[in-house]
Amino acid sequence: MSGTHKVEIRETKPFTDQKPGTSGLRKPTKTFKENNYFENFIQSYFDDVQEQKPLQQCTLVVGGDGRNFVKEGVKIIIQMAAANNVHKLIVASNGIMSTPAVSNVIRKYSTDGGIVLTASHNPGGINADYGVKFNISNGGPAPEAITNSIWDKTRQITHFKICSTIDIDISQLHKQQFQIEGSSQPFEVEIIDSVDDYVELMKSIFDFDILKSLLNYEKEHFKIMINALSGVMGPYVTRIFHQELQGKDSVIVKNCQPLEDFGGHHPDPNLTYAHELVEDMEHGDYEFGAAFDGDGDRNMILGKKGFFVTPCDSLAVLAANLNVIPYFRTHGINGYARSMPTSGAVDRVAKKQGKELYETPTGWKFFGNLMDSKKISICGEESFGTGSDHIREKDGMWAVLSWLSVLATVNKSVEHLLNQHWQTYGRNFFTRYDYEEIDGSGPFAMLKRLEGFCMSNELLNKTFPSGTKQYTIQLMDDFNYTDPIDQSYTEKQGIRIIFTDGSRIVFRLSGTGSRGATVRLYVDSYENDPSTYDKDAQEMLQPLVSLALNIAQLKEFTGRDKPTVIT
Ligand code: G6P
Ligand code: ZN
Repeated sequence: MSGTHKVEIRETKPFTDQKPGTSGLRKPTKTFKENNYFENFIQSYFDDVQEQKPLQQCTLVVGGDGRNFVKEGVKIIIQMAAANNVHKLIVASNGIMSTPAVSNVIRKYSTDGGIVLTASHNPGGINADYGVKFNISNGGPAPEAITNSIWDKTRQITHFKICSTIDIDISQLHKQQFQIEGSSQPFEVEIIDSVDDYVELMKSIFDFDILKSLLNYEKEHFKIMINALSGVMGPYVTRIFHQELQGKDSVIVKNCQPLEDFGGHHPDPNLTYAHELVEDMEHGDYEFGAAFDGDGDRNMILGKKGFFVTPCDSLAVLAANLNVIPYFRTHGINGYARSMPTSGAVDRVAKKQGKELYETPTGWKFFGNLMDSKKISICGEESFGTGSDHIREKDGMWAVLSWLSVLATVNKSVEHLLNQHWQTYGRNFFTRYDYEEIDGSGPFAMLKRLEGFCMSNELLNKTFPSGTKQYTIQLMDDFNYTDPIDQSYTEKQGIRIIFTDGSRIVFRLSGTGSRGATVRLYVDSYENDPSTYDKDAQEMLQPLVSLALNIAQLKEFTGRDKPTVIT
């Protein structure tokens, strides 16, 4: 500890656009770097936390996904936390800590919450996106009541506090204390290696010996390919697969060096943006492939020759096989949950097992209360998120280790496992069409018109022909949700059109983009005729997709005649 650091109170002007979206505030990196945009948001957060608990009693965690401005952001947060009288910060070395690892550290050390510097799957770099996300003491994303309260503060802010003389080397693991002007207690910063705690958590959940033998089978290696898309997951992947599981020969890794611009990758693990993995898998050399997003909470699972497992099916298959994982044998299995646009595949597993199934709005934050009150054990979203109650974020590595645990136990290929699953439960064909970054008001007008149909009920019971099929609308609404634990109410979460045969069409606007509006169309249709199970989802769903586009008049409103991404 040397010298006392002065608290500077700097004037600032509020912004009107700091409303967090589905998962934190995301804007172009340059926006965050200019005019105290970042500082305003962080100060508003500290002011909000202070209303619940004096900051001098608070310990907070700070991590990030390694993108441009994360290291600088971490340093600013340290200086502002000092000036705001925060008791202690636990900081990831170099600011590198995956979102699931942040959730773990918050819980493990019983801290009061944390800040994650990430725009998740959005591209990074000075000309791309940046983001800030706040997590609460259960380790999960802050619920809307909190993010709205922070947003209120961002619109009134006049000053922020900072100790600009604090300088700390965030690349070295150590603890350091600082004397702050006017404060009776020192401000403490602890720089930690976020991989250590995370590995310990994974070892407490999975049987690493079984996984080790899967990857080191004497005669023939079970070869897998992992692509971290130059996001935060690289260090976790190499540590777990190469060191802990000793799989250097069987686990081929790519893009495992976190880069500030993700090496130009769009770090979203889907068939479009993770095409390198898809191509690598197509050669047929690997039994299993996986990719993660920028901050490591999303995952994509592929089987041999690039056999694609939809996130909806991934959730259902894991739900059906959870008993192979030691954690669930110890903790038991409560119910399941999925976001509304996610297909009903997991519903069928829940039904068969006599477990409760919860349908929530899009966004991981809605699962937190259900997990805290032990209503659910695992949950997932069509947006490539799968996770369990071991933390309060979705967890890409957890999903991959869960899949490998299942494959090691049932001794089948990914494709075979899926086929067997469909034979038992039937198949929910699912697809999502994304129309990204649309300028103008078209998407909003399109949704408004659909909302009108929901209110007037005018399409109810109407039958629409499409291709060789006929679809009759049984229900059409704008999804809303009352949290069964705290009764909080969330509305306007997407237009649902449900047909008499159980097929569903959903339209909603993305809450994670940073430029223009992104329209998402989700289509889910159930089949229990085994002769259809090996059909292509796009082919099977074509009539419903066309019908959806017609009902919404998507082309007329958006000018787009094809989607940017299909998953
Ligand atoms: C983030 C959240 C997810 C959510 C997804 C939806 O990844 O963590 O919980 O499903 O965003 O994004 P969207 O762009 O559809 O609002
Ligand atoms: Zn993410």
